[in-house]
Amino acid sequence: MAQPVLQGRSILLVIGGGIAAYKSAELVRLIRKAGGDVRVILTRAGSQFVTPLTLASLTGNKVQEDLFSLTDEVEMGHIELSRSADLVVVAPATADLMAKAANGLANDLASTALLATDKRILMAPAMNVRMWLHPATQRNLAALKQDGVRLVGPDAGEMACGEFGPGRMAEPAAILEAIVAALAGPTVIPMPEWQAPAPASGPLSGRHVLVTAGPTHEPIDPVRYIANRSSGKQGYALAEAARALGARVTLVSGPVTLPDPPGITVIRVETAREMDRAVEQALPADLAIFAAAVADWRVEDEAGQKLKKDGNAIPPLRLMENPDILARIARHLTRRPGLVIGFAAETENVIGHATAKRLRKGCDIIVANDVSPASGVMGGDRNIVHIIDAAGVTTLPEMAKAEVAAVLMQRFAALLGGET
Ligand code: C5P
Repeated sequence: MAQPVLQGRSILLVIGGGIAAYKSAELVRLIRKAGGDVRVILTRAGSQFVTPLTLASLTGNKVQEDLFSLTDEVEMGHIELSRSADLVVVAPATADLMAKAANGLANDLASTALLATDKRILMAPAMNVRMWLHPATQRNLAALKQDGVRLVGPDAGEMACGEFGPGRMAEPAAILEAIVAALAGPTVIPMPEWQAPAPASGPLSGRHVLVTAGPTHEPIDPVRYIANRSSGKQGYALAEAARALGARVTLVSGPVTLPDPPGITVIRVETAREMDRAVEQALPADLAIFAAAVADWRVEDEAGQKLKKDGNAIPPLRLMENPDILARIARHLTRRPGLVIGFAAETENVIGHATAKRLRKGCDIIVANDVSPASGVMGGDRNIVHIIDAAGVTTLPEMAKAEVAAVLMQRFAALLGGET
Protein backbone atom coordinates (compact mmCIF):
# COMPACT_ATOMS: atom_id res chain seq x y z
CA MET A 1 0.00 0.00 0.00
CA ALA A 2 1.67 3.19 -1.16
CA GLN A 3 -0.39 5.62 0.93
CA PRO A 4 -0.43 5.10 4.73
CA VAL A 5 -4.23 5.52 4.96
CA LEU A 6 -4.31 4.85 8.69
CA GLN A 7 -1.52 7.28 9.61
CA GLY A 8 -2.21 8.72 13.04
CA ARG A 9 -5.22 6.45 13.64
CA SER A 10 -5.37 4.08 16.53
CA ILE A 11 -7.24 0.77 16.49
CA LEU A 12 -8.23 -1.31 19.50
CA LEU A 13 -8.38 -4.89 18.25
CA VAL A 14 -10.33 -7.39 20.33
CA ILE A 15 -9.38 -10.94 19.42
CA GLY A 16 -11.91 -13.58 20.40
CA GLY A 17 -11.43 -17.31 20.71
CA GLY A 18 -11.75 -18.99 17.34
CA ILE A 19 -9.56 -20.62 14.77
CA ALA A 20 -9.87 -17.42 12.69
CA ALA A 21 -7.71 -15.69 15.33
CA TYR A 22 -4.68 -16.78 13.34
CA LYS A 23 -5.84 -14.39 10.59
CA SER A 24 -5.87 -11.53 13.10
CA ALA A 25 -2.11 -11.58 13.21
CA GLU A 26 -2.17 -10.84 9.49
CA LEU A 27 -4.77 -8.09 10.11
CA VAL A 28 -2.43 -6.47 12.65
CA ARG A 29 0.35 -6.54 10.07
CA LEU A 30 -1.88 -4.86 7.46
CA ILE A 31 -3.03 -2.11 9.86
CA ARG A 32 0.56 -1.40 10.85
CA LYS A 33 1.59 -1.31 7.20
CA ALA A 34 -1.18 1.22 6.56
CA GLY A 35 0.30 3.45 9.27
CA GLY A 36 -2.15 2.61 12.08
CA ASP A 37 -1.36 1.96 15.72
CA VAL A 38 -2.84 -1.24 17.17
CA ARG A 39 -3.55 -2.20 20.75
CA VAL A 40 -4.83 -5.69 21.36
CA ILE A 41 -7.21 -7.18 23.88
CA LEU A 42 -6.87 -10.94 23.74
CA THR A 43 -9.63 -13.00 25.35
CA ARG A 44 -8.68 -16.05 27.35
CA ALA A 45 -10.08 -18.28 24.57
CA GLY A 46 -8.30 -16.19 21.94
CA SER A 47 -4.96 -16.87 23.62
CA GLN A 48 -5.48 -20.56 22.83
CA PHE A 49 -5.18 -19.75 19.13
CA VAL A 50 -2.62 -16.95 18.96
CA THR A 51 -0.02 -16.06 21.54
CA PRO A 52 0.33 -12.71 23.32
CA LEU A 53 3.98 -12.74 22.37
CA THR A 54 3.19 -12.91 18.64
CA LEU A 55 0.77 -10.01 18.95
CA ALA A 56 3.07 -7.91 21.15
CA SER A 57 5.85 -8.39 18.58
CA LEU A 58 3.58 -7.40 15.68
CA THR A 59 1.98 -4.39 17.40
CA GLY A 60 4.93 -3.15 19.40
CA ASN A 61 2.48 -2.72 22.29
CA LYS A 62 1.73 -4.71 25.40
CA VAL A 63 -1.19 -7.10 24.87
CA GLN A 64 -4.00 -6.72 27.40
CA GLU A 65 -5.36 -9.99 28.67
CA ASP A 66 -6.76 -9.75 32.14
CA LEU A 67 -9.47 -7.40 33.43
CA PHE A 68 -8.17 -7.49 36.98
CA SER A 69 -4.50 -6.90 36.37
CA LEU A 70 -3.64 -4.11 38.79
CA THR A 71 -0.55 -2.99 36.90
CA ASP A 72 -2.57 -2.72 33.69
CA GLU A 73 -5.22 -0.68 35.48
CA VAL A 74 -2.50 1.67 36.67
CA GLU A 75 -0.83 1.88 33.25
CA MET A 76 -4.05 2.13 31.24
CA GLY A 77 -7.48 1.32 32.69
CA HIS A 78 -10.04 -0.50 30.58
CA ILE A 79 -12.13 2.63 30.11
CA GLU A 80 -9.13 4.58 28.91
CA LEU A 81 -8.07 1.66 26.72
CA SER A 82 -11.43 1.54 24.97
CA ARG A 83 -11.69 5.30 24.50
CA SER A 84 -8.18 6.21 23.44
CA ALA A 85 -8.71 4.32 20.15
CA ASP A 86 -10.40 5.81 17.08
CA LEU A 87 -12.15 2.52 16.31
CA VAL A 88 -12.74 -0.76 18.11
CA VAL A 89 -12.43 -3.82 15.88
CA VAL A 90 -13.55 -7.25 17.03
CA ALA A 91 -11.94 -9.97 14.90
CA PRO A 92 -12.80 -12.73 15.21
CA ALA A 93 -16.15 -11.77 16.77
CA THR A 94 -17.27 -15.06 18.23
CA ALA A 95 -20.91 -15.95 18.97
CA ASP A 96 -20.06 -15.47 22.64
CA LEU A 97 -18.58 -11.98 22.20
CA MET A 98 -21.50 -10.92 20.01
CA ALA A 99 -23.98 -12.20 22.59
CA LYS A 100 -22.21 -10.35 25.39
CA ALA A 101 -22.01 -7.09 23.43
CA ALA A 102 -25.65 -7.35 22.29
CA ASN A 103 -26.79 -7.75 25.88
CA GLY A 104 -24.40 -5.38 27.59
CA LEU A 105 -22.58 -8.03 29.61
CA ALA A 106 -19.22 -7.03 31.01
CA ASN A 107 -17.56 -9.96 32.72
CA ASP A 108 -14.09 -9.83 31.21
CA LEU A 109 -11.79 -7.22 29.73
CA ALA A 110 -13.03 -7.64 26.14
CA SER A 111 -16.74 -7.31 26.92
CA THR A 112 -16.09 -4.51 29.43
CA ALA A 113 -14.16 -2.52 26.83
CA LEU A 114 -17.00 -2.99 24.32
CA LEU A 115 -19.51 -1.65 26.84
CA ALA A 116 -17.30 1.20 28.05
CA THR A 117 -16.25 2.59 24.69
CA ASP A 118 -17.67 5.72 23.12
CA LYS A 119 -16.18 4.82 19.73
CA ARG A 120 -17.59 2.98 16.76
CA ILE A 121 -17.30 -0.79 16.80
CA LEU A 122 -16.60 -2.95 13.75
CA MET A 123 -17.14 -6.68 14.11
CA ALA A 124 -15.85 -9.46 11.87
CA PRO A 125 -17.93 -12.47 12.92
CA ALA A 126 -16.45 -15.95 12.72
CA MET A 127 -18.15 -19.10 13.87
CA ASN A 128 -19.56 -22.42 12.84
CA VAL A 129 -22.36 -22.07 10.27
CA ARG A 130 -25.03 -23.46 12.62
CA MET A 131 -24.01 -21.08 15.36
CA TRP A 132 -24.18 -18.19 12.87
CA LEU A 133 -27.62 -19.19 11.61
CA HIS A 134 -29.00 -19.89 15.08
CA PRO A 135 -31.91 -17.53 15.89
CA ALA A 136 -30.12 -16.39 19.06
CA THR A 137 -27.08 -15.19 17.07
CA GLN A 138 -29.30 -13.58 14.44
CA ARG A 139 -31.22 -11.82 17.22
CA ASN A 140 -27.96 -10.56 18.71
CA LEU A 141 -26.82 -9.45 15.27
CA ALA A 142 -29.98 -7.41 14.80
CA ALA A 143 -29.52 -5.81 18.23
CA LEU A 144 -25.89 -4.95 17.50
CA LYS A 145 -26.84 -3.35 14.17
CA GLN A 146 -29.51 -1.38 15.95
CA ASP A 147 -26.85 -0.12 18.35
CA GLY A 148 -24.78 1.11 15.39
CA VAL A 149 -22.19 -1.69 15.35
CA ARG A 150 -20.75 -2.16 11.86
CA LEU A 151 -20.09 -5.58 10.39
CA VAL A 152 -17.75 -7.06 7.84
CA GLY A 153 -18.45 -10.62 6.69
CA PRO A 154 -18.83 -13.40 7.50
CA ASP A 155 -17.97 -15.06 4.21
CA ALA A 156 -19.52 -18.28 3.03
CA GLY A 157 -17.29 -21.20 2.19
CA GLU A 158 -15.64 -24.25 3.59
CA MET A 159 -14.94 -23.83 7.26
CA ALA A 160 -12.10 -25.09 9.41
CA CYS A 161 -14.56 -27.49 11.08
CA GLY A 162 -15.34 -29.13 7.71
CA GLU A 163 -18.85 -27.70 7.25
CA PHE A 164 -19.88 -25.37 4.46
CA GLY A 165 -21.85 -22.10 4.65
CA PRO A 166 -21.67 -18.57 6.09
CA GLY A 167 -19.50 -18.13 9.17
CA ARG A 168 -15.95 -17.77 7.86
CA MET A 169 -14.25 -14.58 9.02
CA ALA A 170 -13.76 -11.97 6.30
CA GLU A 171 -10.25 -11.88 4.86
CA PRO A 172 -7.85 -9.44 6.59
CA ALA A 173 -7.70 -7.25 3.46
CA ALA A 174 -11.51 -6.90 3.49
CA ILE A 175 -11.46 -6.07 7.22
CA LEU A 176 -8.81 -3.41 6.55
CA GLU A 177 -11.06 -1.87 3.88
CA ALA A 178 -13.97 -1.85 6.34
CA ILE A 179 -11.73 -0.18 8.95
CA VAL A 180 -10.78 2.59 6.51
CA ALA A 181 -14.47 3.06 5.60
CA ALA A 182 -15.54 3.14 9.28
CA LEU A 183 -12.91 5.79 10.04
CA ALA A 184 -14.11 8.01 7.19
CA GLY A 185 -17.19 9.16 9.19
CA PRO A 186 -17.51 10.43 12.76
CA THR A 187 -15.97 7.95 15.18
CA VAL A 188 -17.46 9.06 18.48
CA ILE A 189 -20.96 7.78 19.21
CA PRO A 190 -23.12 10.42 20.94
CA MET A 191 -24.21 9.10 24.33
CA PRO A 192 -27.68 9.78 25.73
CA GLU A 193 -27.45 12.56 28.27
CA TRP A 194 -27.55 11.55 31.90
CA GLN A 195 -30.74 12.73 33.53
CA ALA A 196 -31.00 13.58 37.17
CA PRO A 197 -33.63 11.49 38.98
CA ALA A 198 -36.75 13.29 40.19
CA PRO A 199 -36.10 14.89 43.55
CA ALA A 200 -37.52 12.83 46.39
CA SER A 201 -38.98 15.95 47.89
CA GLY A 202 -40.27 19.08 46.25
CA PRO A 203 -43.38 21.23 46.34
CA LEU A 204 -45.21 18.69 44.15
CA SER A 205 -43.94 15.48 45.75
CA GLY A 206 -46.80 13.10 46.46
CA ARG A 207 -48.89 14.85 43.79
CA HIS A 208 -50.09 13.39 40.51
CA VAL A 209 -49.85 15.83 37.62
CA LEU A 210 -51.61 15.09 34.33
CA VAL A 211 -50.50 16.94 31.19
CA THR A 212 -51.85 16.77 27.64
CA ALA A 213 -49.55 17.85 24.81
CA GLY A 214 -49.12 17.96 21.06
CA PRO A 215 -51.67 17.95 18.27
CA THR A 216 -54.23 15.28 17.49
CA HIS A 217 -54.54 13.57 14.13
CA GLU A 218 -58.07 13.05 12.89
CA PRO A 219 -58.20 10.44 10.13
CA ILE A 220 -59.89 11.12 6.79
CA ASP A 221 -59.03 7.68 5.43
CA PRO A 222 -56.30 5.16 6.33
CA VAL A 223 -53.54 7.40 4.93
CA ARG A 224 -54.78 10.99 5.33
CA TYR A 225 -55.58 13.04 8.39
CA ILE A 226 -56.41 16.53 9.65
CA ALA A 227 -53.78 17.98 11.99
CA ASN A 228 -52.30 21.24 13.24
CA ARG A 229 -48.84 22.68 13.74
CA SER A 230 -48.45 22.03 17.47
CA SER A 231 -44.96 20.68 18.27
CA GLY A 232 -45.78 19.55 21.81
CA LYS A 233 -42.74 21.43 23.16
CA GLN A 234 -44.61 23.55 25.72
CA GLY A 235 -46.59 20.56 27.06
CA TYR A 236 -43.49 18.37 27.31
CA ALA A 237 -41.65 21.20 29.09
CA LEU A 238 -44.53 21.47 31.57
CA ALA A 239 -44.44 17.73 32.24
CA GLU A 240 -40.68 17.90 32.88
CA ALA A 241 -41.09 20.96 35.12
CA ALA A 242 -43.70 19.09 37.19
CA ARG A 243 -41.36 16.14 37.57
CA ALA A 244 -38.51 18.44 38.59
CA LEU A 245 -40.71 19.65 41.45
CA GLY A 246 -41.18 16.06 42.63
CA ALA A 247 -44.52 15.14 41.04
CA ARG A 248 -45.57 11.81 39.57
CA VAL A 249 -46.40 12.84 36.01
CA THR A 250 -48.62 11.33 33.32
CA LEU A 251 -48.17 12.90 29.91
CA VAL A 252 -50.88 12.14 27.36
CA SER A 253 -49.29 13.07 24.07
CA GLY A 254 -50.58 13.39 20.54
CA PRO A 255 -48.24 12.57 17.63
CA VAL A 256 -45.01 14.55 18.07
CA THR A 257 -41.37 13.91 17.23
CA LEU A 258 -40.15 14.55 20.80
CA PRO A 259 -38.63 11.65 22.76
CA ASP A 260 -40.28 10.40 25.97
CA PRO A 261 -38.92 12.51 28.85
CA PRO A 262 -37.30 10.20 31.41
CA GLY A 263 -39.14 9.45 34.63
CA ILE A 264 -42.52 10.38 33.15
CA THR A 265 -45.34 8.02 32.13
CA VAL A 266 -46.04 8.89 28.50
CA ILE A 267 -49.25 7.68 26.86
CA ARG A 268 -49.16 8.24 23.12
CA VAL A 269 -52.45 8.75 21.31
CA GLU A 270 -53.52 9.94 17.88
CA THR A 271 -57.06 11.22 17.94
CA ALA A 272 -59.03 13.50 20.26
CA ARG A 273 -61.24 10.61 21.32
CA GLU A 274 -58.19 8.49 22.23
CA MET A 275 -56.79 11.45 24.18
CA ASP A 276 -60.10 11.85 25.98
CA ARG A 277 -60.14 8.18 27.02
CA ALA A 278 -56.46 8.26 28.09
CA VAL A 279 -57.08 11.35 30.23
CA GLU A 280 -60.09 9.73 31.90
CA GLN A 281 -58.07 6.62 32.65
CA ALA A 282 -55.24 8.67 34.14
CA LEU A 283 -57.52 10.24 36.78
CA PRO A 284 -57.44 10.98 39.65
CA ALA A 285 -54.94 13.82 39.44
CA ASP A 286 -54.18 16.76 41.72
CA LEU A 287 -53.29 19.06 38.86
CA ALA A 288 -54.37 18.72 35.22
CA ILE A 289 -52.83 20.86 32.51
CA PHE A 290 -54.37 20.79 29.05
CA ALA A 291 -51.65 22.03 26.73
CA ALA A 292 -52.63 19.84 23.76
CA ALA A 293 -53.87 21.47 20.57
CA VAL A 294 -56.82 19.13 20.25
CA ALA A 295 -58.54 19.20 16.86
CA ASP A 296 -61.97 20.78 17.29
CA TRP A 297 -63.48 18.61 14.59
CA ARG A 298 -63.08 15.15 13.16
CA VAL A 299 -64.33 13.67 9.90
CA GLU A 300 -67.82 12.30 10.40
CA ASP A 301 -67.51 9.21 8.25
CA GLU A 302 -63.86 8.20 8.12
CA ALA A 303 -63.30 6.11 4.96
CA GLY A 304 -62.23 2.53 5.53
CA GLN A 305 -60.21 2.55 2.30
CA LYS A 306 -58.01 5.23 0.73
CA LEU A 307 -60.20 7.72 -1.11
CA LYS A 308 -59.58 7.52 -4.84
CA LYS A 309 -59.42 10.34 -7.33
CA ASP A 310 -62.53 9.55 -9.29
CA GLY A 311 -62.89 11.70 -12.40
CA ASN A 312 -63.71 15.24 -11.34
CA ALA A 313 -65.73 14.37 -8.22
CA ILE A 314 -64.08 15.94 -5.14
CA PRO A 315 -65.03 14.03 -1.98
CA PRO A 316 -66.93 16.21 0.51
CA LEU A 317 -65.55 16.22 4.07
CA ARG A 318 -68.32 16.41 6.64
CA LEU A 319 -66.94 17.37 10.02
CA MET A 320 -68.34 16.78 13.49
CA GLU A 321 -67.33 18.14 16.87
CA ASN A 322 -64.72 16.38 19.00
CA PRO A 323 -65.16 15.96 22.75
CA ASP A 324 -63.86 19.04 24.61
CA ILE A 325 -61.56 17.24 27.03
CA LEU A 326 -60.73 20.31 29.13
CA ALA A 327 -64.37 21.35 29.53
CA ARG A 328 -65.40 17.81 30.44
CA ILE A 329 -62.68 17.34 33.08
CA ALA A 330 -63.20 20.84 34.52
CA ARG A 331 -66.85 19.88 35.15
CA HIS A 332 -66.19 16.28 36.16
CA LEU A 333 -68.73 15.43 38.84
CA THR A 334 -66.66 12.90 40.77
CA ARG A 335 -63.02 13.32 39.91
CA ARG A 336 -62.33 16.94 39.03
CA PRO A 337 -58.63 17.57 39.72
CA GLY A 338 -57.94 20.16 42.43
CA LEU A 339 -56.53 22.57 39.88
CA VAL A 340 -57.47 22.55 36.18
CA ILE A 341 -55.43 24.61 33.71
CA GLY A 342 -56.32 25.30 30.10
CA PHE A 343 -54.26 26.82 27.33
CA ALA A 344 -55.55 29.20 24.71
CA ALA A 345 -53.72 29.63 21.47
CA GLU A 346 -55.10 32.74 19.82
CA THR A 347 -54.16 34.75 16.77
CA GLU A 348 -55.98 38.00 17.68
CA ASN A 349 -57.61 39.65 20.73
CA VAL A 350 -55.62 37.14 22.80
CA ILE A 351 -56.68 38.25 26.30
CA GLY A 352 -60.31 38.93 25.43
CA HIS A 353 -60.86 35.53 23.82
CA ALA A 354 -58.94 33.71 26.53
CA THR A 355 -60.86 35.37 29.37
CA ALA A 356 -64.16 34.26 27.82
CA LYS A 357 -62.71 30.79 27.26
CA ARG A 358 -61.85 30.36 30.96
CA LEU A 359 -65.48 30.84 31.90
CA ARG A 360 -66.81 28.73 29.05
CA LYS A 361 -64.52 25.81 29.82
CA GLY A 362 -64.90 25.96 33.60
CA CYS A 363 -61.16 25.76 34.32
CA ASP A 364 -59.37 27.65 37.10
CA ILE A 365 -56.68 29.27 34.97
CA ILE A 366 -56.17 29.85 31.26
CA VAL A 367 -52.65 30.35 29.99
CA ALA A 368 -52.98 32.33 26.78
CA ASN A 369 -50.49 32.90 24.04
CA ASP A 370 -50.32 34.55 20.66
CA VAL A 371 -49.75 31.95 17.95
CA SER A 372 -50.13 34.23 14.95
CA PRO A 373 -47.44 33.37 12.37
CA ALA A 374 -45.59 36.60 13.20
CA SER A 375 -45.13 35.47 16.84
CA GLY A 376 -43.06 32.37 15.88
CA VAL A 377 -44.49 30.52 18.88
CA MET A 378 -45.84 27.44 17.03
CA GLY A 379 -42.89 25.03 16.78
CA GLY A 380 -40.49 27.65 18.17
CA ASP A 381 -38.59 27.50 21.46
CA ARG A 382 -39.80 30.76 23.02
CA ASN A 383 -43.15 31.93 24.28
CA ILE A 384 -44.93 34.93 25.80
CA VAL A 385 -47.86 33.89 27.99
CA HIS A 386 -50.65 35.63 29.88
CA ILE A 387 -51.95 33.91 33.01
CA ILE A 388 -55.68 34.54 33.35
CA ASP A 389 -57.52 33.62 36.53
CA ALA A 390 -60.52 34.91 38.46
CA ALA A 391 -58.43 37.84 39.75
CA GLY A 392 -57.24 39.10 36.38
CA VAL A 393 -54.29 38.86 33.98
CA THR A 394 -50.57 38.45 34.63
CA THR A 395 -48.27 38.67 31.61
CA LEU A 396 -44.88 36.95 31.82
CA PRO A 397 -41.89 38.33 29.91
CA GLU A 398 -40.73 36.44 26.80
CA MET A 399 -38.86 33.31 27.86
CA ALA A 400 -37.77 29.91 26.56
CA LYS A 401 -40.62 27.37 26.73
CA ALA A 402 -38.72 25.46 29.43
CA GLU A 403 -38.48 28.62 31.56
CA VAL A 404 -42.16 29.42 30.99
CA ALA A 405 -42.94 25.88 32.17
CA ALA A 406 -40.80 26.25 35.30
CA VAL A 407 -42.39 29.58 36.28
CA LEU A 408 -45.93 28.31 35.64
CA MET A 409 -45.33 25.13 37.58
CA GLN A 410 -44.03 27.04 40.61
CA ARG A 411 -47.26 29.06 40.60
CA PHE A 412 -49.46 25.99 40.25
CA ALA A 413 -47.57 24.23 43.06
CA ALA A 414 -48.05 27.26 45.31
CA LEU A 415 -51.79 27.31 44.53
CA LEU A 416 -52.11 23.61 45.39
CA GLY A 417 -50.47 24.26 48.73
CA GLY A 418 -48.16 22.10 50.76
CA GLU A 419 -50.40 19.33 52.03
CA THR A 420 -51.03 16.22 49.89
O1 C5P B 1 -61.32 25.87 22.49
P1 C5P B 1 -59.84 25.86 22.36
O2 C5P B 1 -59.34 24.69 21.53
O3 C5P B 1 -59.19 27.13 21.96
O4 C5P B 1 -59.35 25.61 23.86
C1 C5P B 1 -58.03 25.39 24.17
C2 C5P B 1 -57.92 24.63 25.46
O5 C5P B 1 -58.87 23.58 25.51
C3 C5P B 1 -56.59 23.95 25.58
O6 C5P B 1 -56.27 23.85 26.94
C4 C5P B 1 -56.86 22.59 24.96
O7 C5P B 1 -55.95 21.63 25.42
C5 C5P B 1 -58.26 22.31 25.45
N1 C5P B 1 -59.05 21.49 24.53
C6 C5P B 1 -59.43 20.22 24.88
N2 C5P B 1 -60.23 19.47 24.07
C7 C5P B 1 -60.69 19.98 22.91
C8 C5P B 1 -60.33 21.29 22.53
C9 C5P B 1 -59.50 22.01 23.37
O8 C5P B 1 -59.00 19.74 25.94
N3 C5P B 1 -61.45 19.25 22.14
